[in-house]
Amino acid sequence: MKSYLTCAASTLALVASTAAFAGPEAEVLHYWTSGGEAKSVAVLQKEFADNGGTWTDMPVAGGGGDAAMTALRARVLSGNAPTAVQLKGPAIQEWYEEGVLADISAVAEANNWADVLPESIAGHMKCEGTWCAAPVNVHRVDWIWANSDVLSSNGIEMPKTWDEFNAAAAKLQAAGIIPLAHGGQAWQDATVFEAVALGILGADGFRKAFVDLDKETLTSDAMVAVFDQMRKMRGFVDPNFSGRDWNLATAMVMNGEAAFQIMGDWAKGEFMAAGKVPGDDFLCMSTPGEGFLYNVDSFAMFSVDGEEKRQGQDLLAKLVVGQNFQKVFNLNKGSIPARTDVSLDEFDSCAVLSADDMAASSAGGSLLPSYAHGMALRGAQSGAITDVVTAHFNSDMSSADAVQQLATAVANSM
Ligand code: BGC
Repeated sequence: MKSYLTCAASTLALVASTAAFAGPEAEVLHYWTSGGEAKSVAVLQKEFADNGGTWTDMPVAGGGGDAAMTALRARVLSGNAPTAVQLKGPAIQEWYEEGVLADISAVAEANNWADVLPESIAGHMKCEGTWCAAPVNVHRVDWIWANSDVLSSNGIEMPKTWDEFNAAAAKLQAAGIIPLAHGGQAWQDATVFEAVALGILGADGFRKAFVDLDKETLTSDAMVAVFDQMRKMRGFVDPNFSGRDWNLATAMVMNGEAAFQIMGDWAKGEFMAAGKVPGDDFLCMSTPGEGFLYNVDSFAMFSVDGEEKRQGQDLLAKLVVGQNFQKVFNLNKGSIPARTDVSLDEFDSCAVLSADDMAASSAGGSLLPSYAHGMALRGAQSGAITDVVTAHFNSDMSSADAVQQLATAVANSM
């Protein structure tokens, strides 16, 4: 009798615990809300569901993720962190230092991340030696996109120098075409600024300015020239640029209203989602100058209670670094896989160019983290720089004043 009871009790306990476990769950905070981005995140949602997971979507619209980061802070402060968050660069380590990130080393080790990720990317995913984020891709930031018909009908080639860009823009403007599609949002101003800065300062100068925060470089004549070029860029945008979302700027290039956009290759995701063909409908080229500005999207997991959520985190981490996922997601997103063992056979010519240039830049010492997309600096420093860039772009501030303000803002942010 006793053994029957014991057996029945343990069966009941088993049933209860099985019934209580609802399967892996994840509430995912991200800012992928444009056409191309939504298609990409849908790939992840499907793969998560196919593996038994329940996904709760927490999209926060706003390019570059500023609004998403504000939402994240509010959730963490109220003691209710999302399970997984699209987070990248030094912000990962900043959150780790606040003691709120989960350790995903067991997943990383079981799936050999150390062997399939380049060291430069793996470094961003570690916090004091443990794995604290999972990388999804490599976006390149220093791209110039163009409408091929607009260029050819105006006898214009893709510009290889900033002087060529300025000459092409002046010609287009005279023909009544908006030379540069741009959205006046701080992160978009910063995106154009860092592409111009890479071209004018060169890779070493860029590193000194935006990685080392070297005062001499921040106030150099070359930096004055960067702001001079930004003043020219301001003259090439249309009067309605303020506040425009980046994907609406991409649409202006698609429909021929504007000729160029300077934007990371998530813009390619928009062209592709609209059925446009690279090399045919639109052209891609790196912005004038040497080097490669990388921007790696990744997910960090926040410390949460509950077996479902913890298993959801492990499943999500495993899936995003999975070989097939990295191919399908990045075909939609416009980026290239973070893993080194994914074939690029199905990728377009812009992606192949990105991968080739990344390898060459890595070998030549000009592979650089994007400051505008939160890969190079902590939030306080990158925010200080962007404030000056935006203030200059939206006023008649002189370049000489801008470099002085830049040096002061950086010094005050330390
Ligand atoms: C992110 C991309 C995103 C883009 C526009 C970048 O900072 O890395 O994934 O598509 O912002 O929101």
